[in-house]
Amino acid sequence: MACFFQKLLLVSCLSYLLIPIEIFAQDYELGTLPPPRKLTKTQAKVASANYQKYCALCHGADRQGHVNDHAPSLRSKSLFESGVPHAILRPMSYGRKGTAMGGYLDEVGGPMTLDETWNLTYWLFEQAGVERLRLSTNPVHGDIKRGEQVYLANCTNCHGVDGEGITAPALGNQSALAHNTDEFIRHAIRHGRQDTPMPAFKDTLSDNDIDNITAFLRSKALGWKEEKTILKALPTPEQYVINKNGDDPNFSLQDGMYVSSEDLHSALLAKNKMVLLDTRVTSVWQTAHIEGSIPFPYYADLDETVAGIPKDVQIIAYCSCPRAAADYTINKLRDRGYTRTAVLWEGIFGWMNLGYPIMRGDIEGIAD
Ligand code: HEC
Ligand code: HEC
Repeated sequence: MACFFQKLLLVSCLSYLLIPIEIFAQDYELGTLPPPRKLTKTQAKVASANYQKYCALCHGADRQGHVNDHAPSLRSKSLFESGVPHAILRPMSYGRKGTAMGGYLDEVGGPMTLDETWNLTYWLFEQAGVERLRLSTNPVHGDIKRGEQVYLANCTNCHGVDGEGITAPALGNQSALAHNTDEFIRHAIRHGRQDTPMPAFKDTLSDNDIDNITAFLRSKALGWKEEKTILKALPTPEQYVINKNGDDPNFSLQDGMYVSSEDLHSALLAKNKMVLLDTRVTSVWQTAHIEGSIPFPYYADLDETVAGIPKDVQIIAYCSCPRAAADYTINKLRDRGYTRTAVLWEGIFGWMNLGYPIMRGDIEGIAD
């Protein structure tokens, strides 16, 4: 009898032990984190102004996302509850190579200091105002082949067959995969991103399949080496006009605004006289640009930058958006009486895809 009770006790002890383990195996959230450092009033004011100046163009004045280039929301609950500050700071500082998201840290040629990038990160957390979860940092294991099938069946409309991003972030992007943990990715898949087109999959896909897709996406990270850009000297006003003695290109502009890559390329070959404005964040001009272009970011203070630019020479602006930042800049120039202005229709990525040449920046340790 005593023996029977002992056995019963043992079994119930064991099941007590087993139940929590069962639950923990499903539990990806390990409590909460304290809110990040609080900004002073002045820091918050500067951060908010920096946000409007540098980020609102694509991410929206209210951080709602999807204003240009399908830039993601910078206020969704699931992003900020899963985000350690680095999930925001790193893309902001270094950008995501190959996407419209450039780097804003001065070290890579951007306009913000390290303190400013940190303060803007904390400001975004403050604005989002959600409790941060402590997510597991363990790798997520799964069946990569099966994950690929589930990905192809559910995700490609928005994220692309190769994770290149169509109307949604490039999930195969090396910069993103290098910085985001498996749990950050799984959390986004399970919970979606509130008030954006990204659905929550926790009720439509099994936990196993969510693990399988996470493992599949992770398998796309072939290892990303942080490259160091050697900053080039910026062009001086005497260098603004290219082919000073050349003829005018005489473009016929579509909608009074747009020039095609083909026409621009012919004009460059014919050594026509022009000014080329690269309206992206200056760090990406450092990485690659159309030869002869000058960095003229959309957030530039025109009072300071426009002085060296003549009104009688054809000006062509481009960005990667493919047109948002360039349109914005050209409209501001037109308001100031620069009428000989145009925007490159395909943007610099379109230009590159058509096989037209670009100048690459110098990268430390890589001989070209
Ligand atoms: C209807 C379009 C759509 C579908 C389908 C879709 N997504 Fe998304 N996804 C988005 C959008 C848009 C975002 C960016 C949301 C935002 O604004 O924050 C996103 C964001 C994400 C993110 C977060 C990326 C980051 O850097 O923050 C992950 C991870 C993700 N999706 C994975 C998936 C997976 C895996 C699937 C398939 C199971 C999928 N998505 C299906 C539209 C979609
Ligand atoms: C020219 C448009 C553009 C501008 C301007 C821009 N971004 Fe982005 N940003 C994007 C795009 C597009 C993505 C998604 C890239 C991808 O992964 O495919 C992105 C992604 C991000 C992400 C990653 C979000 C996530 O869900 O993973 C952060 C954080 C971010 N941007 C912050 C900023 C901040 C802060 C600024 C201003 C300093 C800024 N961005 C300016 C276009 C822009």
